[in-house]
Amino acid sequence: MPLSFSHLVSADQIMRSDAEEILATCDEMETVLKKGGDDRLKRKVLACLFYEPSTRTRLSFETAMLRLGGQVLSVEGAQSSSLTKGESLEDTIRVVGQYADIIAMRHPEEGSAARAMLVSPVPFINAGDGPNQHPTQGLLDLLTARKERGTVENLTVAIAGDLKFGRTIHSFSTVISLFPGTRFRFITPPNLRMPAKVTNLFKERGVPFEESEDLQDGLDADILYMTRIQKERFESPEEYERLKDAYVLHAKDLKGKSVTVMHALPRNAEIATDVDALPNAAYFRQAQNGVPVRMALLSLLLGA
Ligand code: NCD
Repeated sequence: MPLSFSHLVSADQIMRSDAEEILATCDEMETVLKKGGDDRLKRKVLACLFYEPSTRTRLSFETAMLRLGGQVLSVEGAQSSSLTKGESLEDTIRVVGQYADIIAMRHPEEGSAARAMLVSPVPFINAGDGPNQHPTQGLLDLLTARKERGTVENLTVAIAGDLKFGRTIHSFSTVISLFPGTRFRFITPPNLRMPAKVTNLFKERGVPFEESEDLQDGLDADILYMTRIQKERFESPEEYERLKDAYVLHAKDLKGKSVTVMHALPRNAEIATDVDALPNAAYFRQAQNGVPVRMALLSLLLGA
């Protein structure tokens, strides 16, 4: 079944049928990966435009394209692009869309992805627009939830840390809220609460959420998604220093707990390294799930 969208800019575009189609295609892609890849995107070209730092997202987009027999053009950092010569984002996208069959872009400005989509002559994927959205991460988080918990229904999902600037969890919470029985606990310091533009959607969808300032409230959930305090989004360095260690999860907190611990990575201090060896720690498996998800999206958006 084709997806209901031809560009992916925000998780709120994703319908439940899309999410199910993507998860089913991921299963197929895991089989493809076991044999090292296939050629379904042969002669297709992906342009990766990354104007903000990235390790996992860019490399997993690139490997996803290569594993399907396609090729990749990459621009890393605004310094090496025409944006420094004053070219508008719109002009860049119009041109790159003539060299590539599909574009993935990360950009520091909220709303940049929506602007790019409007002029893109080829399918366009948002790989993170400032503090706003990161929908492919939200989908790989959904796949992680399904693999770790065996289902994406009836999950109590606690999310802790910087929910104001954390684009990954804006996207993940939006996607998992499509599934029946989802309940949220948002755990934040008072000034890093989940933005109203996200919680309004939960109100519309009838998805219950509670807010708390105490990390203990996440330990009995099905999933505890820890987030990095997004240093680069803070206007005041003092405010960042004050909040950076607001929540730190240690192995001793998880004694006797079955909660799945997720994190988009990179982590700072919010998950102590003694958690890594516990079966609860799903974050490195989560990073690996980026590959089948991006293979599925590239293949579905390119109609292969
Ligand atoms: C995140 C991002 O860039 O938003 N990382 C990722 O894509 N895996 C999370 C973060 O930077 O904290």
